[in-house]
Amino acid sequence: MINRRDFLQQGAIGAAGLLLAPKRGWASAAGSRAADSRIEVLFDEPLGTISPNIYGHFVENLSGVLYDGIWLGEKAPVANIDGLRKSLIEHMRKIKATVIRFPGGCFADSYDWRDGIGPAEKRPRRTNFWAMGESEKAPANHRYDPNAVGTNEFVHFCKLIGAEPYLAANVRSLPASTFQQWVEYCNSPAGSTTLADARAAAGYPDPFRVKYWGVGNESWGCGGEFTPQEYAVEFRRYSTWLPTYGDNLNLIASGPNTDDWSWTREFLTEVLRKGPGELRRIYGMALHHYAWNLSRGKTQDWVAGKGEAVKFDAVDWYELLREGERMEGLITGHWQVLSEFDHQHRVKLVVDEWGPWYRPGSEATPDDQLEQMPTLRDAVFSGMTLDIFNRNPEKVAMANCAQLINCLNSLYLAHEDKFVITPVGHVFDLYSSHQGGEALRAVFSAPNVRYDRDGQSASYWGLKGSSSVRDKNLTITAVNPSTSEPRLVEVALRGATVKEAGMRFLSNADIHAHNTFEQREVVVPQTKPLSMSGGTLVVEFPPASVVALNIHLN
Ligand code: AHR
Repeated sequence: MINRRDFLQQGAIGAAGLLLAPKRGWASAAGSRAADSRIEVLFDEPLGTISPNIYGHFVENLSGVLYDGIWLGEKAPVANIDGLRKSLIEHMRKIKATVIRFPGGCFADSYDWRDGIGPAEKRPRRTNFWAMGESEKAPANHRYDPNAVGTNEFVHFCKLIGAEPYLAANVRSLPASTFQQWVEYCNSPAGSTTLADARAAAGYPDPFRVKYWGVGNESWGCGGEFTPQEYAVEFRRYSTWLPTYGDNLNLIASGPNTDDWSWTREFLTEVLRKGPGELRRIYGMALHHYAWNLSRGKTQDWVAGKGEAVKFDAVDWYELLREGERMEGLITGHWQVLSEFDHQHRVKLVVDEWGPWYRPGSEATPDDQLEQMPTLRDAVFSGMTLDIFNRNPEKVAMANCAQLINCLNSLYLAHEDKFVITPVGHVFDLYSSHQGGEALRAVFSAPNVRYDRDGQSASYWGLKGSSSVRDKNLTITAVNPSTSEPRLVEVALRGATVKEAGMRFLSNADIHAHNTFEQREVVVPQTKPLSMSGGTLVVEFPPASVVALNIHLN
């Protein structure tokens, strides 16, 4: 039996086996039929402000993510800005990308930031954490890190986009002094320290003012195989003193894998052994959850339990959503554990890795490790997950989809001069108007979906989403998870009236639909006119859809 921790130590392992699902047909059927579903938005039940950082991303130095996905080099014959892929920067600006985590992941705890500064030609080549899982045909820079992208290039990438960098420090294999010096390199004022001079010599005299810092990654596994008590001791040591230069540093503690409640509880117990004031050190507790086990309870094996990215049956569609939906219980559960220690809830949750994880075999660029092809199913999964974060604004301060490009739940795929926005990328576009909005409680009611799960009749909810308001603009997003049934939805606003409304959505007659380098617009946002009936909006949600309603209020 292989679990995720073993996998991450041993490198990637391939697996075979697939199921084919029939394509389904669906034609618009609103006509004059009565609504079967309802969304009620309650303006006098605000839930809190949606942190823009919930719409965050994750970039690891892993296979094709950095080298090929993001970094092309200044001399590349592909449009770039200072060596960074231009089309990627442009779309990330469009979706208002807020924060980007780097350099890992597991890679972070083997990375020495000092290798990635100074003249590019003098930077050392190092063995990448993921080297042993690379195929023989993979480019050399996937196995041996050339350090062409270091702190300067990554922070520059963030600034070009308008996003904040979130850097993860190495706790497994570097001493605490190097963490202090990384902060000093990034944030010390121009002319103040030797490291500020080194930054200036590279063309960056002004401090980067990096605010978000991870203290290790998955410290229960690839980040050091610590017990929660051991990690808590390290956390206290690494966070005891860091230079701040007048700005708050927001430290994110390495948190639990999925439902490991004891990690959260035992970590906090040990940190607080030195007194309740220790809580002040922690801005956020990380939480990682991947939806990977599509075996329907048959195995917990990390390899055997996985499903196919593109070739799947309807039952696999629902199973993935079930696995992803666990996120809401994980947020509530870890929040509950936090409340045992932190009555005022100063410490927030940072879900800095989330997404589906499938078997290898669907890579747009063969030989890219951990790359998979996002389909409409992943768009629905991602919409559902972002709605969960939106519904819990007081608990979730940041979330980072794993990973931005050429990896697991990627928004983009790229290879050399080829670039495509995946259905997941379009979801982030549809949802961007939630950023910074006041979340409002909304009640979603719809008939359950019924389907066959290994000979047993199973059911799944029929409609869920979230709503938020900013100024006079209301955003409602929701997913219809049914692979075959449209929903006709009445939208009732309690405490406001509609002036104008627009709808954008993602769907396709084929639940496996996805965008490739050759066919880039199979799943793209579509628009539809909306009708009003007696002061109520009536909206048709196609089967297997992600919908965003943008409503201008009187
Ligand atoms: O995202 C891929 C890997 O998944 C990350 O490196 C690690 O943190 C997690 O286990």
